[in-house]
Amino acid sequence: MCGIIAVKGQNVLPKIIDGLKRLEYRGYDSCGLSYKTDVIHTVKTIGYIDNLEKKIPNKKSNIGIGHTRWATHGIPCEKNSHPHISESGKIACVHNGILENYKELKDKYLSNIKLKSETDSEIIPNLIEYFYNKQNRKNLLKAFFSAIQEFKGSFAIAFISEYDNNIYFARNQSPLVISKFGDEFFLSSDVNGLYSKNQVFYLPNNYVGVLSDDFHVYDNNLQEIDIKYTDYSNMICDINKDGFEYFMLKEIYEIPNAIKKTYNHLKTIEFVLPEKIDNILFVSCGTSYHSSLVGKKYIEKYAQVPVECEIASEFLYNDYLVKPNTLAIFITQSGETADTLKSLELAKNLGLFTLAITNVPNSSVTQLADSTINMQAGVEICVASTKAYTTQIYVLLELTNFLINQKKELYKSIDKNRTLIEGNRTINYIPYSEIGLQNLMDINISDIDIRIDKVAEKLAKLKHLHIIGKNYDYITAMEGSLKIKEISYIFTDAYPCGELKHGTLSLIDNDSYVVAIMTERKLIAKTLNAIHEIISRGGKVICITPFVDVDLSDACDVIFLPDLESVFLPIVSIIPFHLLSYKITRLLGYNPDKPRNLAKSVTVE
Ligand code: F6R
Repeated sequence: MCGIIAVKGQNVLPKIIDGLKRLEYRGYDSCGLSYKTDVIHTVKTIGYIDNLEKKIPNKKSNIGIGHTRWATHGIPCEKNSHPHISESGKIACVHNGILENYKELKDKYLSNIKLKSETDSEIIPNLIEYFYNKQNRKNLLKAFFSAIQEFKGSFAIAFISEYDNNIYFARNQSPLVISKFGDEFFLSSDVNGLYSKNQVFYLPNNYVGVLSDDFHVYDNNLQEIDIKYTDYSNMICDINKDGFEYFMLKEIYEIPNAIKKTYNHLKTIEFVLPEKIDNILFVSCGTSYHSSLVGKKYIEKYAQVPVECEIASEFLYNDYLVKPNTLAIFITQSGETADTLKSLELAKNLGLFTLAITNVPNSSVTQLADSTINMQAGVEICVASTKAYTTQIYVLLELTNFLINQKKELYKSIDKNRTLIEGNRTINYIPYSEIGLQNLMDINISDIDIRIDKVAEKLAKLKHLHIIGKNYDYITAMEGSLKIKEISYIFTDAYPCGELKHGTLSLIDNDSYVVAIMTERKLIAKTLNAIHEIISRGGKVICITPFVDVDLSDACDVIFLPDLESVFLPIVSIIPFHLLSYKITRLLGYNPDKPRNLAKSVTVE
């Protein structure tokens, strides 16, 4: 949440704007920057970075900081946007995170200061200045360090001042990276914001740093540490739309390739996991939670390991009962979701082995987890997750294979004919064929797209929409519902087919539209039952299915899925919802890449 950029170099203003544009997916309700000539100048605006770019003067400066905001304290407006300036006007500061004790700090140290904004962040430059003055203006780094000791909560902070020509920064929970490019330094909330990725340093948690004539980093005892850069130049942050109108559509069309790249990557690595796994716990949020629900079904069905799925913000408070040999898996596209990271810390405290599945190498989750599987979906810029969700499910399928093989190893002596009976089920080596996988990686999104425009036109007129499905299809219904409401602002809800008659059927009338997903052959009759219950009450049904042989003449529309091996259908059955939500959103005139009130990386609890 929120993006921070700072640059020390030559003519920094366009460089700050460039970095902010790369980070805009982290938050975009307002933005601003401060730069120094002999004094500090600040420019702010509500809305996108393009608005800020139009306002910046043609001035040369060697240091500056910028910020793109996702509001937590105080509405999006210029006075609440960053940078915040100390009362003297001499310190300008940007902050990502939440200071939980800002009111106490204000009362304790800054009672005589009149704050201008409604934010927690405005405390920061004032408290730094308070300690700087108290310590006889000797050492700004020490004053910064004193202020940090007082903060409770998460933060990534960068500031400049009129007292020197340095950029100071620090972090706790919220990430910060620094890159060196020639004799210039760039600071960013994540690698995506960096112009050059050849020499990158991830600031460790609770460390502080300063960009003066050179670059110095100090640990939490203020002892200077050695800086070792890592080369991330192979981490392609493609911020071009490649001819697509929005990133969302581009990213939907990238789904087959994201799976292919992940498949190739998984072939080259080994999963580093405990030898004995008797239970699995998934903890994640939003779309990543939905992929964990699919993972549960795969793993329980094919590998016979019991699985629990938790929503991270709930897991933190639900007194989880630890089971023996539990592997705790944290799925997070961004690797930075605060609830997920806190849950991971909790799981470690409970003694569980932790595995991260993420799309962002070196993100915070990878630094905390015992083991990591990096997906290769490529950077996802649109706030709504599309290719990351489908890639997560593919990774969970491969994890299922790993667990099957692990069991096979354990039971080698009785495994004569490549199958194994455990409990009441047969465990097979692999739940799909190589050809089946190849077909998945070769799907053509335009084939699914064929009927979407027509359906989107109908749905864009609605105030609410119901989505139903059974088993795997119910998970797709939940994720489809999230996608549509997230970007088009049409209220949607999702039900298992069999639940309609327990309440929601009372809402169905001549004006109702229901999307029904039907991808499991053995459940066709049950899903058709639900469809007919709706149609006989005047409701209109749009069916999503791969089955061309089923009579769906009662449905007002049918969207056909590619004919794939059944295990892959939860991966592709969401794609019509990706396309529908995109097209509905465009028809309604909204920006699908930047839905209101949301941000890509949710680094606050
Ligand atoms: C919805 C969406 C969110 C994220 C959720 C978790 O389209 O993207 O629901 O899935 O905020 O984010 P990650 O996976 O980064 O932990």
